[in-house]
Amino acid sequence: MAKIVITGGEVLNGEVQISGAKNAVLPILCATLLADRPISIGNVPHLHDVTTTMELLGALGAQLTVDEKLTITVDAGAQLQTVAPYELVKTMRASILVLGPLLAKHGHAEVSLPGGCAIGSRPVDQHIRGLQALGADVVVENGFVKARADRLRGGRYAFDMVTVTGTENVLMAAALARGTTVLENCAEEPEVVDLANCLISMGAKIEGAGASTLTVEGVGRLHPTTHRVVGDRIVGATWGIAAAMTRGDVTVHGVAPAHLQLVLNKLRDTGAVVETFDEGFRVRADARPKAVNVSTLPFPGFPTDLQPMAIGLAAVADGMSLITENVFEARFRFVEEMVRLGADARTDGHHAVIRGVEQLSSAPVWCSDIRAGAGLVLGGLVADGVTDVHDVEHIDRGYPRFEEILRSLGGEIERVSG
Ligand code: EPZ
Repeated sequence: MAKIVITGGEVLNGEVQISGAKNAVLPILCATLLADRPISIGNVPHLHDVTTTMELLGALGAQLTVDEKLTITVDAGAQLQTVAPYELVKTMRASILVLGPLLAKHGHAEVSLPGGCAIGSRPVDQHIRGLQALGADVVVENGFVKARADRLRGGRYAFDMVTVTGTENVLMAAALARGTTVLENCAEEPEVVDLANCLISMGAKIEGAGASTLTVEGVGRLHPTTHRVVGDRIVGATWGIAAAMTRGDVTVHGVAPAHLQLVLNKLRDTGAVVETFDEGFRVRADARPKAVNVSTLPFPGFPTDLQPMAIGLAAVADGMSLITENVFEARFRFVEEMVRLGADARTDGHHAVIRGVEQLSSAPVWCSDIRAGAGLVLGGLVADGVTDVHDVEHIDRGYPRFEEILRSLGGEIERVSG
């Protein structure tokens, strides 16, 4: 496994162009299985998870082409395989998102249970109950979710909790169900809205995207479209937080500030100057960040995917911060690695209490997931000496050209293959 070696102390300055959101392009790629004619997707980020999803669609029998601008065209018109193999699903939870489209289009789907990961058990019971509400017969056996339905029919379902991919899976299935579907307590994330917009451009009849109740009038078929993926707000905010941590000046292009309102306000509370414009924002800081409290919640709350970066900011802030993780039960494992970097932090259940220090201290640390990995590299930026962050393949799943962009902003960083 490769490692990233960071020499701390540099200030980040410059501009970054953000590409499409990982958590929008993955469901949208799966949505192409609903159409019987080619769908083209633009602004695709160059990520390992995108490659994995393309391999999965190919394994199911879809024809994929990619042009020099990374625009992907998927033709899922042929008779597809409807069993998603464990070998591909185990590396990426989002593979569960082929379940709804395959079931809706072909009346059958078998997808290996994705299994847990470093941030939690990641169950899919809401995906299953939502599809059952549309008339599907779904069982879990031999490590597979097995779903069957001659033709899905419109139904009503209220999710037990806000689930991003749960909302997306059932929404995609409802698009081809016969009749009206009403889904309540849905996720309102911009990535869910982007999927809904793509489905609507394919001819789906969906109302309420971005609100907690979605109403879908099923249609007989979905037609070709070209869709440009929304910018990745999590990647964009990661660079903004890095600017505040290193007391730099970074302008992020390609992300809608409205998708990060609460995060940008939190950065202002730390004392950073944050300006916004149509397709981006600028974060400037010339002093140590003030401590702020953060509670992660579904959109429009503070995103759980930025929790590691919030902890990195708190680790060097002036004062005490209380960070509360309300979405994933195991996302604080990352805090132990930050303590190795000299953070004065301790966790108690859903809460992490962090007393900021002037500077972290370099140490070898290990990534456990995409966002924890990015958080540790940011920690290395504000540590004395040289920090080795190991197992950085996790970062490649969610951040395009990570160390290249950090270097372009002035970070002293290099990747050493393991
Ligand atoms: C999506 O995961 C994202 N992944 C995650 O991003 C993100 O952290 C998460 O949403 C929350 O915003 C993709 O979109 C591919 P959930 P998802 O279902 O859909 C519980 C990243 O780094 N739950 O919204 O899997 C679950 O345990 C990744 O980009 C059930 O109990 O998350 C969790 O506590 C990490 N049963 C809560 O709901 C279910 O059937 C929210 O999970 C589904 C979820």
